Amino acid sequence: MTDGLTFEFANALVKDFEPESFDVVYSRDCIIHIREKAALFERFFKWLKPGGKLMISDYTCCPDEEKPDEFWTYLADRKYDLRPIEEYAAFIRGAGFDVVAEDQSEWFTSILKMELEKLSEMKDEFLKSHSLKDFEDIEEGWKIKLVRCSGKVQQWSLFQGVKPVTNGANGHTNGQTNGKTSDDSKLKEFGEKRKDVESIDNLNSNQFQKFLDESQYKLNGILRYEKIFGRGFISTGGVTTTTKVLEKIGLNKDDKVLSIGCGIGGGEIMMNKKYGAIVHAIDLSQNMLSVARHHVEKTEID
Ligand SMILES: C[S@@+](CC[C@H](N)C(=O)[O-])C[C@H]1O[C@@H](n2cnc3c(N)ncnc32)[C@H](O)[C@@H]1O
Repeated sequence: MTDGLTFEFANALVKDFEPESFDVVYSRDCIIHIREKAALFERFFKWLKPGGKLMISDYTCCPDEEKPDEFWTYLADRKYDLRPIEEYAAFIRGAGFDVVAEDQSEWFTSILKMELEKLSEMKDEFLKSHSLKDFEDIEEGWKIKLVRCSGKVQQWSLFQGVKPVTNGANGHTNGQTNGKTSDDSKLKEFGEKRKDVESIDNLNSNQFQKFLDESQYKLNGILRYEKIFGRGFISTGGVTTTTKVLEKIGLNKDDKVLSIGCGIGGGEIMMNKKYGAIVHAIDLSQNMLSVARHHVEKTEID
């Protein structure tokens, strides 16, 4: 293992760290999987040093009452928990952070379009190691995502938080209350649809890990997405979005970073090699971690 870069199999909702032990908590397109958001952000707050930074990218969405049936089906199928950007930011604020939330859907859409073009250009090469169905599934999935983004059903957002140096100075309340109040009223109307989305409890690590490794992130699936996003990356924009997001954090050499849901490790390797940060990365998928460790051993990413 490279100096200052470690990967650990762990559930972000279960694993605990010493209070005030990290300068940065970083998470890219992972918390979509976690519905226990208030509890999660409280953990991040505890683990960060005063003045420590939070950087999250994630999918956000329109309010429940505007979600089309197609979108509910997609959420239930993937066990995703998406929230409107303000609701998401309220969870982070509720944990005690000062937070800035930015809807970056325009940027995301332009990258998605570029990746669709790239996918069609590399079709022949892609088909050498994957099936036509794999190709069509990816293409179809991205086209639907573009439609959702243009209709503002689905968005992609960045959340930057800072743990205030004086704890509690911002009148911090418990995020669980913040998020739950509006959710409870929505639950009455949309209970049946949401029940599907929430049927797997992320706190049950074994069950959720099985779902991740055997359904959502099979090895073949990871490798086919990596082909398009670039080595080490499993989410939109790959190295392009990661470079920009890392610039925004302002990492210093020897900063201690905790990465949540690191996937196959491209961003974590960059933070360690390019910025000299000491990175501890966790993920709940064994498949993801095996690819990440392979990249580190082969030092395939600079
Ligand atoms: C879409 S992938 C993103 C991976 C990587 N951050 C990236 O941007 O390329 C989401 C990741 O979150 C991980 N994950 C989901 N729930 C988790 C949890 N409770 N604890 C740790 N990791 C989790 C998944 O296994 C997966 O690797």
